[in-house]
Amino acid sequence: MTTRTSARLAIDGGEPVRTTMLPYARQSISDEDVAAVAAALRSDWLTTGPRVPAFEEALAGFAGVRHAVAFSSGTAALHGAAVAAGLGPGDEAVTTPMTFAATANCVLYAGAEPRFADIDPGTLLIEPELVAQAITPRTKALLPVDYAGQPADYDALRAIADSAPGGPLAIIADASHSLGAMFDGRAVGTLADLTVLSLHPAKILTTGEGGAVLTDRDDLAERLRRFRNHGIATELAARRDWTYDMVELGYNYRLTDIGAALGSSQLERVPAFLARRRELAAHYLDRLAGHELLDVPVVDPRADPAWHFAFVQLRLDRLRVDRGTIFQALRAEGIGVNVHYIPVHRHSYYRERFPGVSMPVAEAAYDRLLTIPLFPAMTAADADDVVAALDKVTTAYRAA
Ligand SMILES: Cc1ncc(COP(=O)(O)O)c(C=O)c1O
Repeated sequence: MTTRTSARLAIDGGEPVRTTMLPYARQSISDEDVAAVAAALRSDWLTTGPRVPAFEEALAGFAGVRHAVAFSSGTAALHGAAVAAGLGPGDEAVTTPMTFAATANCVLYAGAEPRFADIDPGTLLIEPELVAQAITPRTKALLPVDYAGQPADYDALRAIADSAPGGPLAIIADASHSLGAMFDGRAVGTLADLTVLSLHPAKILTTGEGGAVLTDRDDLAERLRRFRNHGIATELAARRDWTYDMVELGYNYRLTDIGAALGSSQLERVPAFLARRRELAAHYLDRLAGHELLDVPVVDPRADPAWHFAFVQLRLDRLRVDRGTIFQALRAEGIGVNVHYIPVHRHSYYRERFPGVSMPVAEAAYDRLLTIPLFPAMTAADADDVVAALDKVTTAYRAA
């Protein structure tokens, strides 16, 4: 169990738990990463060079899939995956409200419409039973998110996708948080038709900005490569003269060789990053399990999450203030808490375009959610500071 402290809160002028802010996420950059980027900068190719396919090959090998197609961001990769899955005007994709807006936005980019299915209150992952209920004759794809790095229930989702009236539906995994996670002994990348990664600095592996789509299907990989390069059929390296043919409307969504160099260098340390993330998460779960004033994440026994971040849900029924007050008090204690996510359907754009969407579980979870710091360079003492601050602040605001 956790310690109790009655010290005055930093927000009220007391001593903070930490004098320097512990961020919720932070990239880990080594001297080798810097050298790899410098070598790319000194090479002939800043973009469309050899480091991009080298990174793609290494990433596919790590994930155990045939293809990794690199993109300029996770959002661009989601757009590519939505188009490769065949989404277009008149189609729908079922997704979760508990995600960054980009997940649902990619369905709109493709001209289709997202339909939301509510989440499980403990894992905050999309609830397969509700996915089944959200399917209509227009549904063409399922778009689960591996929230916080825990894989969604791909077995249940696959069964639903295969038996849907217009099925089998494509499954696009938004695995922006879950590179390296496992579900029932199978790795992320092998669980869906298309698996999308974000390679933003807060994520498991970074290329600066960047993203990738993993797939075992040759046809989908070819479509993705074309799509990220203006819809041009032949890649630069394969051209014999000046000619090229643009066969569909594509975009410039290419990752640079600078980013790819960083990605390849980082990839070597991903096993160590994952091990450290799992240690820190276990430390939190151990110290916070059974806490009277907050709930810890529920982990499916089949899942080995990548722990992109850790989160708690406040027991608002036992507290006399709301999440906003606790958030500010924790920040004052030097803990860089955050909130992931404002449910997508609650953003103004979605409210105006899709009025009347109600996702009671996601909305209730949002009201009591806090993301707490977790990144590979964090020490056990840092994690103890987070636990101490959570204890101090929640105890101070405990309802009478
Ligand atoms: C679940 C999820 N999907 C998509 C994205 C978009 O990725 P990117 O920032 O690389 O465009 C993010 C990143 O914040 C994310 O967390």
